[in-house]
Amino acid sequence: MSENVIDEAMVAAAWDRNADQWANDVQAGFDVYRTLYTLPSFLSFMPDIKGKSVIDLGCGEGSNTRCFAELGARMTGVDLSRRLIAEARQKEAERPLGIQYENSSFSNMATLQPASFDVALSTMALMDGPDFPAAMREAYRILKTGGLLCFSVLHPCFITPATKWVRDEDGNHLGLRVGRYFDRTPFVERWHFSKRPSTDGIVPFEVPRFPRTLSEYINAVSDAGFRITKIDEPRPDTKLSEEHPWLARWYAHAPLVLFVEAAKAGP
Ligand SMILES: C[S@@+](CC[C@H](N)C(=O)[O-])C[C@H]1O[C@@H](n2cnc3c(N)ncnc32)[C@H](O)[C@@H]1O
Repeated sequence: MSENVIDEAMVAAAWDRNADQWANDVQAGFDVYRTLYTLPSFLSFMPDIKGKSVIDLGCGEGSNTRCFAELGARMTGVDLSRRLIAEARQKEAERPLGIQYENSSFSNMATLQPASFDVALSTMALMDGPDFPAAMREAYRILKTGGLLCFSVLHPCFITPATKWVRDEDGNHLGLRVGRYFDRTPFVERWHFSKRPSTDGIVPFEVPRFPRTLSEYINAVSDAGFRITKIDEPRPDTKLSEEHPWLARWYAHAPLVLFVEAAKAGP
């Protein structure tokens, strides 16, 4: 895959290739950052969704979508990957929660009616699509007046194309080196869940990434018409950092994720 021009078709193909192992690993609980840190923090940050009509943008195989449905929301999940949507539908068939799934881009949800959702959620997906401003315009279009958008992304100020931990000679983390913050060149990140019990026989995920600055994120939310109501940069708490020392660097030095909540204000 060329690393300089990455369009949505290439993103869809990459996630289709990742799909089987991604679904397996997430459902096996190997994504411990999600379980311990990013999802609990997001659940505390996001609005009450009980009884609401809610869309999950970039829902993947649907683990978080099912979690939101279990909180009492009427859920729709949207994802670009046909194979991840098939996996999500399969899980819905096995354990029905009333979730509808759409195979489309969050930057173009033409099949969805304007003003049809109370809340749009998105977890760790909007940094993986090439057109964030279009995703914000689409979220604005499909939300009802007074509706809320609430999303998480990798923190654009700290997870940059040249991020690297700086350590002392004993391996202790001294800080995070941030580099090439202004470099918006798309690239493909190859990785696996670091807490996976074994890496034997696995092919690393290939995840197309679209670096953006903090101002690009914030201005795109605002330019779409939203009023930003809340931002958070969650840390794992001290107890969690003591129990899982590998999480302590995200407590001590920098947040891994950025959370944004914004409202579609009335006229
Ligand atoms: C890191 S995964 C996160 C999935 C899910 N939200 C979760 O937390 O498990 C990123 C997801 O974004 C999806 N994605 C990337 N670009 C997209 C786009 N333009 N429209 C919809 N989904 C997209 C990918 O297919 C993938 O499922």
